[in-house]
Amino acid sequence: MTSPPAPTAPPTLRWIGEGPNGTLELLDQTLLPGEVVALACRTDDDVFAAIRRLSVRGAPAIGVSAAYGLVLGVRDALAAGGSRADFDAALHASAEKLAASRPTAVNLFWALARCRRVLSLEPDLAPQDAAERLLAEARTIEEEDRAMCAAIGRNGADLLPDFPEPIDGPGGELGLLTHCNAGGLATAGDGTALSVLFEAHRRATAAGKRVRVYADETRPLLQGARLTAWELTRRGVPTTVLCDSAAASLLATGRVHAVVTGADRVAANGDAANKIGTFPLAVMAQRFGVPFYIAAPTSTFDRDLPRGADIPIEQRDADEVLNYGALRTAADGAEAYNPAFDVTPADLIAALITERGVIESPTADAVAEHLKTA
Ligand code: MRU
Repeated sequence: MTSPPAPTAPPTLRWIGEGPNGTLELLDQTLLPGEVVALACRTDDDVFAAIRRLSVRGAPAIGVSAAYGLVLGVRDALAAGGSRADFDAALHASAEKLAASRPTAVNLFWALARCRRVLSLEPDLAPQDAAERLLAEARTIEEEDRAMCAAIGRNGADLLPDFPEPIDGPGGELGLLTHCNAGGLATAGDGTALSVLFEAHRRATAAGKRVRVYADETRPLLQGARLTAWELTRRGVPTTVLCDSAAASLLATGRVHAVVTGADRVAANGDAANKIGTFPLAVMAQRFGVPFYIAAPTSTFDRDLPRGADIPIEQRDADEVLNYGALRTAADGAEAYNPAFDVTPADLIAALITERGVIESPTADAVAEHLKTA
């Protein structure tokens, strides 16, 4: 029996309109999977708020959105008909504002710096032309991200264990475990970790074999249960959601052949920050002899940061932990510990998968060598 086609949904993000006077439209991820609603951002304040409340989230998608946010941020200066110096002042203020939206995903700072650098190289452009140039750069970042996702998918799928015949594991399935959402909702393309899983599923299906993706629900904001499971099921990938705390029990059954997650920032030595709960998954994977992979574009690498311990970790609102949705679940008077990310040390990572290839057993030297061609 074939499943009915998934209803259409707006893309994760898109620029509506021809020139810099357009609008950034985001798929509001706070409402998924129950409601599929597009959110129009007309100012950089709108983009700032959307990033902060996670209407758009995931490192690459945050970076692309911030780039478009800059285009919105210079709009008033453009309308006022001021000088290029006025335009540059507005650009600077907008970049500072957007940079304060979330601290951990380096793609945010990378995209803002890239857009500013491009304009600083063309100081003679008139404001209108400078705005067009800014929009062109944002579009290029979006396009490149899409291509990076596809390349990561191919590079990662090449790395996954081949299907023995029959595959050892109940149901004869290749079992792949992921955490949070590193899919199309987190990027301009098919995702990073999920791109690998989609590609593995595509190859398996073509070979008459089966893949099953196990998605951690990802407390406290349920990006796994709400977003990853939505993406996977819409594309016909067999999907099983589990409580984060069930991962060890699942790994102990032998049903998982690889763990693949994304990252928000990879330090120069290969340590990687990702959604809270990723680090224990890597520890558990080592315990059970299952390879643990991180898939991330080179725009997620921060070569200026020597070690993962230097990565700024976002601390989020206590209510996310003390409540379950709108329902208060914790006892009155209890406080919360709510870091949004943790850092997995490089020695627990079997390989970092990028759009350029694979860094097996990452070290500072191997990361530097990989990034050399940038
Ligand atoms: O808080 P979020 O939902 O933005 O966290 C996202 C993640 O941790 C993702 O795994 C990461 O950004 C990689 S997205 C390709």
